Amino acid sequence: MTRGKLKIGMFGYGCVGQGLHDVLNSSSGFKADIVRICVKDRTKKRRIPMSNFTFDKDDILNDPSINLVVELIDDADEAFRIVTTALKSGKNVVSANKVMVAKHFKELVDLQNKHHVSLLYEASAGASITIIRNLEEYYDNELLHSLRGILNGTTNYVLTKMHNEGIEYDVALKEAQAKGFAESDPTLDVEGWDAKYKLCIITGHAYGLFLDPDEVFHYGINRISAFDIRYAKEKGLKIKLVPYVGKTCENTITSFVLPRFISSDKYLYNVDNEYNGVITEAAFADKQFFSGKGAGGHATGSAVLSDISANSYGYKYEYKKHQQGTVSNYTRNFKLEIYLRYSNEKDRKLFGLKDVSEYFSSKLYKYVIGVVNLETLYSLREQLRNMDVFIVNTGRKINK
Ligand SMILES: NC(=O)c1ccc[n+]([C@@H]2O[C@H](COP(=O)([O-])OP(=O)(O)OC[C@H]3O[C@@H](n4cnc5c(N)ncnc54)[C@H](OP(=O)(O)O)[C@@H]3O)[C@@H](O)[C@H]2O)c1
Repeated sequence: MTRGKLKIGMFGYGCVGQGLHDVLNSSSGFKADIVRICVKDRTKKRRIPMSNFTFDKDDILNDPSINLVVELIDDADEAFRIVTTALKSGKNVVSANKVMVAKHFKELVDLQNKHHVSLLYEASAGASITIIRNLEEYYDNELLHSLRGILNGTTNYVLTKMHNEGIEYDVALKEAQAKGFAESDPTLDVEGWDAKYKLCIITGHAYGLFLDPDEVFHYGINRISAFDIRYAKEKGLKIKLVPYVGKTCENTITSFVLPRFISSDKYLYNVDNEYNGVITEAAFADKQFFSGKGAGGHATGSAVLSDISANSYGYKYEYKKHQQGTVSNYTRNFKLEIYLRYSNEKDRKLFGLKDVSEYFSSKLYKYVIGVVNLETLYSLREQLRNMDVFIVNTGRKINK
């Protein structure tokens, strides 16, 4: 495929779709035609002529002149139907849909191999940070000890506003939504699902395991209180939502998503607002830090454009760590030190931890710091959704 011949059929013209449109129009060095855009709502006013749009996905999927499908919709099930149909009919695809990729990872890899097509999804994890291609190309032969970071712009924006400006959780979340950082359903962001889907995608490229997201423990920020922010501030810490994946031994990894205390000497401390940051620790490259905007139409659109450009010179993921097969096991038998803020003694006992109490705003707050096993947190995952507790990983290393 040559650059001049790239004919794109695009699905979605929302925050990212319009962002990509702007980015493509401003990119003088790259030639690609968006032949048709498929959207859903017939009544919505569009900022470009209606002749560009269709409401029938087959107008794109059955058009033989279209050689690249760019999928940017907010419905993961429909996205999966669109993407698999396109791949099966020999069209390459670029997508930003982390829910779809994470939930159908292995199947999507198999389809690419079977039909000799390419699916690129750099924007799905970390938006503008090129972490997937880095893991594929730079870290293909590195002994990667761990990867952690901030992968969700909405929660980072909310936590920044709460910490720096004392803004309440609900108000900060509304601001993040108004700025276009939040998912259509913000529970995906604040409960930690979005960060987990991204972590699962990254794990596929970092370690070659295509994890079932249901096997990975995640915990978000929707239970955070002003007390937790005050506790962190008094100790010179910030709270960030930090997904982690790392080796526990040569052939085994663990992973989870948890809020984490970050001290001011750490890279992630100054990653604020909608910015994302990723830290890799490896045997030879040592520590590396990547940072960039993790949400927003133009930032995400630039990652999609980079995939479109990579597609034009025949790039496809080789899933090198999966081919190497060095890592074959996944475990949740992993000790963590946590801060647990709770109100009910029964809840604390579920974690097997001893208590400390403190008054704040004339209300009794209780918290405890202690060591738990990740498997314990995982076994409590359903109860945790309704429990009046907040959990933070202290980040301290535990002697095994
Ligand atoms: N926003 C970000 O910062 C960001 C960052 C990274 C990744 N992403 C991912 O990018 C994707 C798009 O997100 P977004 O923020 O751009 O969403 P959005 O602003 O809500 O826009 C969604 C678009 O999808 C279209 N759509 C929904 N269902 C459709 C269907 N069945 N057929 C055709 N079109 C359909 C909508 O059509 P109408 O216009 O007719 O309503 C709309 O244009 C999502 O997978 C998201 O996770 C977003």
